[in-house]
Amino acid sequence: MKLATPLGAVLVVVLVAGSGGLASAQPFRKGPMLQSVDATSGVLLWESSESLPARVVVAVAGVAGAPARELAGPATRLHEVRIDGLAPGTRHTWRVECGGETATGELITAPLGPQPFTFVVFGDSRTGHEPHRALVARIRDEAPAFVLGTGDMVFDGGVPDDWQKFFDIERALLAERPLFPAVGNHDLDAMTLSADAYRQWFALPGGSPMPERIYAFTWAGVRVLVVDSNGGAIPAGDQTAWLEDELQAAAFDQQIEHVFVALHHPFYSTATHGGHAGLREAWGPIFERYGVDAVFSGHDHLYEHLEQNGVRYFVSGGGGAPLYRRNPLASAVDVAASVLLDRSHHYLRVQVAGGAVEVTAIRVDGSIIETTTWGDERRRERARVAARDARATAAAPSARTERTVGPALRPGKTAGGCGAGGCSVGGAGAGGGSLLVVLLLLARVRFGSSVRRPA
Ligand SMILES: [Fe+2]
Repeated sequence: MKLATPLGAVLVVVLVAGSGGLASAQPFRKGPMLQSVDATSGVLLWESSESLPARVVVAVAGVAGAPARELAGPATRLHEVRIDGLAPGTRHTWRVECGGETATGELITAPLGPQPFTFVVFGDSRTGHEPHRALVARIRDEAPAFVLGTGDMVFDGGVPDDWQKFFDIERALLAERPLFPAVGNHDLDAMTLSADAYRQWFALPGGSPMPERIYAFTWAGVRVLVVDSNGGAIPAGDQTAWLEDELQAAAFDQQIEHVFVALHHPFYSTATHGGHAGLREAWGPIFERYGVDAVFSGHDHLYEHLEQNGVRYFVSGGGGAPLYRRNPLASAVDVAASVLLDRSHHYLRVQVAGGAVEVTAIRVDGSIIETTTWGDERRRERARVAARDARATAAAPSARTERTVGPALRPGKTAGGCGAGGCSVGGAGAGGGSLLVVLLLLARVRFGSSVRRPA
């Protein structure tokens, strides 16, 4: 439901049945939390214990006399308020009045073009509430632009109390910084494998074949693609075609300096679960072809830095869940890709400045595991050449039939699935003609990262 306001903003309210008196009401049982913040808009989402009306006031911070934007809507329990028409790269304050109580926070919009900024990555908090709480306190001190989640926020996505605990711990952080999560296997309902409960708590960027399970957003010259590595509900081929379209668009976009991918299951890992061959075979070649800077995942509960064919892979599953160990029987492929494993609760600080990226892995006690830096001036040009040639190949009459099934899933290949314990994605092969094969081989030349570690 959308209501145009006199100030030009748009209020979206999801109506949920129920009403009652205010005496015992919890106006802010969850949230308010920021979501889907971009250069000119953001969403405030919160849950009330019963149906209540609300009023939202947003203003530019630190400007005396700045006009306030006011939004109001009908009574509801699950409030999803989209605020449009904001100034890019600007700090705003927000205030929500609901059920006789007031909540406040800030909303900082993304800059329109490339600018230095910092974001944070972590995941797999599950039932590790104490380390999760300690990590959130450190992340708040970082004041990141946003938080990128690698999934498994909760133990069982079908249990309401699990989500309540997660949002209780992250309440103060999410009032000021948006969370962009990848959906983990534990975020699904353990009984039905439905993502409905997970989707209820998030209002994520649209425009994908599977809203809120796969999506993309841009922040200050960085394009972030979030995909769903759980099988079953999403045909892997749909994601492959969407991924390649997104990567080509990013390659042609002069404003995009870096591309990151987030998903739950790791391509490579030498820990308990290990790397996922189906994922890396399906998507590894296109990530290499289009110069993806780094892939962030979770699922294995520790930190691991791996590299393969110019792409950095960071396993960041140390958000609170019981820590895993290195697997002495890890595959040779995973071992060959591994740079460093650290068995710790931790988060990643990712700093972007022009063509340079610095990823610092930080333990829950504040000690630094390592810092990885890179800067590759040729990445964007390689990606543009690959995207141009891929489009030319796809447009050729002899290639049209092949292109319709996507380069990584051919007829005869099947998309696999992920359950609570693992997943599989069918398909392999780069596709796209001999020119792309040459480009792929060229892209396999490693442009290594620089790593600093504490003595
Ligand atoms: Fe997982």
